[in-house]
Amino acid sequence: MTKLSVNINKIALLRNSRGRNYPDVRAFAARCLELGAHGITLHPRQDQRHARYSDVEALNRLCVEREAELNVEGYPSAEFLDVVKRVRPVQCTLVPDEPGQLTSDHGWDLGKHAAFLRETVKGLRNMRVRVSLFVDYDDQGITRAKEIGADRVELYTEPYAAHFGSARSDEIFEGFRSAAKRAQAAGLGVNAGHDLNLENLGQFLTIPDILEVSIGHALVVECIDHGLETVIGRYLQILGATG
Ligand code: PXP
Repeated sequence: MTKLSVNINKIALLRNSRGRNYPDVRAFAARCLELGAHGITLHPRQDQRHARYSDVEALNRLCVEREAELNVEGYPSAEFLDVVKRVRPVQCTLVPDEPGQLTSDHGWDLGKHAAFLRETVKGLRNMRVRVSLFVDYDDQGITRAKEIGADRVELYTEPYAAHFGSARSDEIFEGFRSAAKRAQAAGLGVNAGHDLNLENLGQFLTIPDILEVSIGHALVVECIDHGLETVIGRYLQILGATG
């Protein structure tokens, strides 16, 4: 079965917007695990505008306690690698983010960055951290991830989500299916993430043996959508009782 890793960044962003510990990132992550999610993902960006490096340490303790997997993803800067070295999460996903980037929007150029990635992956694997590389589905050289030494790749699914239900939907989906197959045939595990949601996830998972999906943005929006009726009702109840 594919594992669900809940990306907590959006909860951290909400917390940071008020400067105190509300919502409590650790408590939110703990609830996700109690409700059956298999793991937690954090993506501390270089400016730490959502997840902070201190969150990585706190959530790793939580995941160890609950026997769940922490996936720490991000650009392998010296600072990022220091935190990963200290914390040693189950998995580290390396992402080619520029500083200040709004969100991840492409995978690695595995040819151009091969030497840098090989060295970085080796260091992480020596610490028994599983390494995944964020990649584009249309990268014809996807199997280079294996030569670089990675355990897995994470397919960047934004193009799949953006074309879902459109005229190009089938063509793009077939591209993802074929990328997963090539990666798996080379001995890589395949994860997926970005813009997956309740509507588009089912079809995506008809691709065999996707090991993990990490989902954050839509999951939080869907929590708001699905919780709205209950919460408005409860406020109105209080107003009715006191008004
Ligand atoms: N994978 C990577 C590498 C990401 O950067 C993100 C967003 O932080 C995700 C997966 C999750 O994407 P989303 O928030 O759209 O579910």
